[in-house]
Amino acid sequence: MDDLLRDGKDNLAMQALAPLSRTYLPWSGYAMRPSGVVKVLNEMVINQRSVVVECGAGLTTFYIAGLIQQQGKGHLYTIEHDPEWIAVVRGLLVQGGLESYVTLIHAPLVDCELSLEGTAWYDRAVIAQVMGDRAIDLLVVDGPPAYDLARQYARYPAAIYFQSQFAPDFAIVLDDIDRLGEQHILAQWQEKIPGLAVKQLAIDGGVAICSNRSGFSVS
Ligand SMILES: C[S@@+](CC[C@H](N)C(=O)[O-])C[C@H]1O[C@@H](n2cnc3c(N)ncnc32)[C@H](O)[C@@H]1O
Repeated sequence: MDDLLRDGKDNLAMQALAPLSRTYLPWSGYAMRPSGVVKVLNEMVINQRSVVVECGAGLTTFYIAGLIQQQGKGHLYTIEHDPEWIAVVRGLLVQGGLESYVTLIHAPLVDCELSLEGTAWYDRAVIAQVMGDRAIDLLVVDGPPAYDLARQYARYPAAIYFQSQFAPDFAIVLDDIDRLGEQHILAQWQEKIPGLAVKQLAIDGGVAICSNRSGFSVS
């Protein structure tokens, strides 16, 4: 029954996403679920998020860029560790005429003192060089890969690193919230990030969305 409900939501989400792609997109188990992508885009439209940082490139990159093009405002900074995957994503963006809306940042995974349990994170020097102290109002966390126990907290540093750059009204989307590792990360963020008194917490499509303001619901 749960599977049927989930499939139904994803089918509906694919219909909602259809106007943003005219070419074939390589959906796979790596991608955020379609109903999760819809939550991200809803957050951008309904709560007016325009400067977006994304950890982990893929189909989310394509859809966020497509929405930015359609809305006529904003920019996406996508952080990715794998240069070969960046080339694939860049190809999709070029095919869709979307490359000018995205800055693809190749940041290798390195030791990071912000990490829990010493997991590697994106090279902060590379990120800082590209982004400076630019304010952001949406952080989408779907990387680095965290599917095995040894890397279950791999995504923790994202919100800690970017907290000094959050706009007065910001939101964070964390994918894979069905996993214990991500649930622990979310709890830690709520403890450690001043203002992230989760006034809006939507859990659906595999993503958790939290914000420092009540905002409008995206579910
Ligand atoms: C969970 S995926 C990120 C997916 C992306 N946000 C999306 O929704 O498509 C995490 C990492 O897996 C890798 N990855 C993504 N898609 C892949 C694919 N189809 N095959 C191999 N690796 C992939 C990339 O390095 C990416 O940063």
